[in-house]
Amino acid sequence: MKGIILAGGLGSRLYPATKVVSKQLLPVYDKPMIYYPLSLLMMSKITDILIISTPQDIHLYQRLLDNGSSLGIKLTYIEQPKPEGLAQAFILGKDFIGDDCVCLVLGDNIFYGQGFSFLIQAAINRATKEQMATIFGYYVKDPQRYGVVSFNDKKEVIEIQEKPVNPKSKFAVIGLYFFPNKVIEIAKKIKPSNRGELEISEVNNYFLKEKSLKVELMDKEFVWLDTGTQDSLLEASNFIKTIEKRQGLKIACIEEIAIKKGYILKSDLKNIINSMGASNYSEYLKKLI
Ligand code: TTP
Repeated sequence: MKGIILAGGLGSRLYPATKVVSKQLLPVYDKPMIYYPLSLLMMSKITDILIISTPQDIHLYQRLLDNGSSLGIKLTYIEQPKPEGLAQAFILGKDFIGDDCVCLVLGDNIFYGQGFSFLIQAAINRATKEQMATIFGYYVKDPQRYGVVSFNDKKEVIEIQEKPVNPKSKFAVIGLYFFPNKVIEIAKKIKPSNRGELEISEVNNYFLKEKSLKVELMDKEFVWLDTGTQDSLLEASNFIKTIEKRQGLKIACIEEIAIKKGYILKSDLKNIINSMGASNYSEYLKKLI
């Protein structure tokens, strides 16, 4: 399974913080935002990853993460000339995906919770063994900002509505999607919506009509944070800070994941630390050795 992180977009709601800095490079407490979705992929053993961003920002991601070899993973980069929708990721990434299945994660989404890796493993199996897509629904108070899951009387999913004015449920679709390879062909077929975007909800509805979409509803103990507004960005930082201070452990520390998953050796981690200079972050990494 390949991974794609979508880290483009305009970031207009965070203006002027995003005037010259890509949103997904802004810090969420102690590390760049993109570390969170990247760590999710790394923890899921998805190590061949494409990062998509704007022509003006893509080199910043390359500077930050390079080709991934220091983390024992493989990173590739591609530009999205204009923010023409989430589903464009599969068209831009078609050569990268090749014949594989693919996981798309949004660069500004943060996930945290126990038992999540179990659900991810099931989603990977569903895509690779049964050619089925998996998306996740999460109960929120403001579903109209997202793709929303509609159910019938039997609690069966009947549609995913993109940013509906009158949402039919409170289950928003989170920014993490698992697809079999045919997602490339489906993305090529869909037409831009009224707002001019290739909507991921259309792709999801296509799989739903074919009875090959699993919508996994998340428990309320699970945490999904989206960091697209000033308030949500600050709340995400505070959340990460609270958990990290309480536990003395870091969330989404990509070097820690790399060593724990066996992608790199202790000697590689020593090299990373030596190249870093003194900081709380490097002190934390030292303790891992
Ligand atoms: P959004 O939050 O919908 O858009 P945005 O990031 O441009 O923010 P704003 O609405 O404030 O202008 O995008 C969700 C994620 O997907 C985010 O990580 C940006 C990314 N994205 C792309 O990379 N390309 C796209 O074409 C779109 C629509 C989004």
